[in-house]
Amino acid sequence: MNTLLNIGGGLLANQGGFWLPQSASTSAAEVDSVFNAIMFIALFGFALIVGLIVIFVALYRHREGVKVEKSPSNNVPLQVAWAVIPLVLVIGIFTIGFQAFMDLRIPPRTAYEVQVTGQSWKWAFTYPNGHVAESLHVPAGRPVKLVLTSEDVIHSFFVPDFRMKMDAVPGRQSHAWFTAREPGMHQAFCAEYCGVGHSDMLADIVVHTPEGFDRWMEGAADILAGLSPEEGGAKLYTSRGCGQCHSTDGTKLIAPSFKGLFGAQRDFTDGGSLAVDDAYIRESILDPQVKIVAGFEPVMPSFRDRFKDREIEAIIAYIKSLE
Ligand code: CUA
Repeated sequence: MNTLLNIGGGLLANQGGFWLPQSASTSAAEVDSVFNAIMFIALFGFALIVGLIVIFVALYRHREGVKVEKSPSNNVPLQVAWAVIPLVLVIGIFTIGFQAFMDLRIPPRTAYEVQVTGQSWKWAFTYPNGHVAESLHVPAGRPVKLVLTSEDVIHSFFVPDFRMKMDAVPGRQSHAWFTAREPGMHQAFCAEYCGVGHSDMLADIVVHTPEGFDRWMEGAADILAGLSPEEGGAKLYTSRGCGQCHSTDGTKLIAPSFKGLFGAQRDFTDGGSLAVDDAYIRESILDPQVKIVAGFEPVMPSFRDRFKDREIEAIIAYIKSLE
């Protein structure tokens, strides 16, 4: 059935054309199939009815000298046919429409989730790592789930190329999902009249290759960008929760304070001692159990997977600055 219905869409939809915009998501073909099926059925019905009207008007028009006969009373087979054929058609339309609707409504469990916030008159996209952008970046070939809400009035996130539209309602969360087929650029609109800036409420959608997306995300998530190493270290100190155990003002919490730490002499529970340097701080972040400062418990977890090299350097720079 789908192959049959796709003939119309396939010819017309790929690059966008007279009928429909570009078909850029995996569900676009299914939506177009249903659209085309319903439209062709409607066109067929229109042609049949108007055609019969024209034929009957010509055939049974009033002629001089022809006596008007009484119309036949009942034609049961004809009546059954015109009840049953449309019934089968609408059940068919319901079935393919319902299938496509359910596919559009239920995101795959593995979908990558992005929060979408509508606000008069712009869109904001929040990624799982907290990064906020004004355009939507997604990887090609991976399902993306959008969780939508609004700061003020009702907006509607509409991406014609993906055949996707969903309202963003204040105080409520709605969702939509799509899988972009190929890398490229697409346009999102607001499809709910929301005030004078409604028609400017646009957002770019950038579909990356999977590797390109990781690269973009890494750059976007770089919280050190534009900061000096000390500033970056201070930001990491707060954002990664170092301060829960390490103070910066000399106060003794459950771990040594960072104040005056660099260059200080440390004694360890195993009897060793050294002056704090870069290598020691790095080791304490990656393998905190190797050297335990006397008087403290070995409670720190390894941050091996949580800090990049540059971030460790920033933290060292920050500790150096706390004299
Ligand atoms: Cu937002 Cu129209």
